[in-house]
Amino acid sequence: MHALIINGSPRVKKYSNTDKILEKIISGMKDSGSTGELYEISDRKQWEEIREKFYHFDHILIALPLFVECIPGLLLEFLETLPVPAKDEFAGERKVTEGSETDSAFSKKPVLSFLLQSGFAEGCQLRCGEEYLSILSGKLGCEYGGTLVKGNNFGIRLVEEKDREKMVLPYQRMGQIYGEEGNFFSEECKKFTGPEQFPGWVRVMVGLMFKTFAKKSFDKAAKEWGCTKSLKDRPYET
Ligand SMILES: Cc1cc2nc3c(=O)[nH]c(=O)nc-3n(C[C@H](O)[C@H](O)[C@H](O)COP(=O)(O)O)c2cc1C
Repeated sequence: MHALIINGSPRVKKYSNTDKILEKIISGMKDSGSTGELYEISDRKQWEEIREKFYHFDHILIALPLFVECIPGLLLEFLETLPVPAKDEFAGERKVTEGSETDSAFSKKPVLSFLLQSGFAEGCQLRCGEEYLSILSGKLGCEYGGTLVKGNNFGIRLVEEKDREKMVLPYQRMGQIYGEEGNFFSEECKKFTGPEQFPGWVRVMVGLMFKTFAKKSFDKAAKEWGCTKSLKDRPYET
């Protein structure tokens, strides 16, 4: 199989975690004898080419980060510009115009699968996005190929090369399955998400960490990026 693969992150390729994940997905696809053609939504110059190719692929994979519990706005902006074919433009549902049949422009509905990844680790916080994507595929005139859901990816672009390799390596197996099956419906893909929710004591520890260590790191990063006010500043309150 040869799939159209889209990185739906607004972050440019060099800094995108999704990009590093997709490298492994594509490598896994190769293991199963499949290939992929990768495009980035962050590069608007590629939009026209993606639009032209979209409905000519049998398999499409859109990989995206969870942004504020949902889909990045730039990806939505792109998807809204897709020329969604009418149902009868796909072969097998031949169009009848004034009594005569015309050829369909597209061979069959593409199977659209998603890879939804995020910073926080619990699977439950990605489920709303997953539900949205399952509906979106139909609205885009595609068959739904499932969503690979995985959190705990904040650090990918921040850690050293060897640690990054450790973080993204499991995606290679997922790529292999995608290459073999053309979707993410298998039990192995479902289990890949990990825990839906952490146990109570872990949630307490994470809460503490965010109030102490993480807060310090956020303050430090903000200062380095030129922020002159406290992160607690509420300029619109008055
Ligand atoms: C504006 C913004 C909003 C985010 N919102 C969430 C969120 O709601 N939940 C979450 O778990 N991670 C969130 N993240 C973290 C990203 O999903 C995560 O770091 C992801 O790996 C980024 O992929 P990318 O580098 O390809 O954009 C957010 C990141 C940004 C920049």
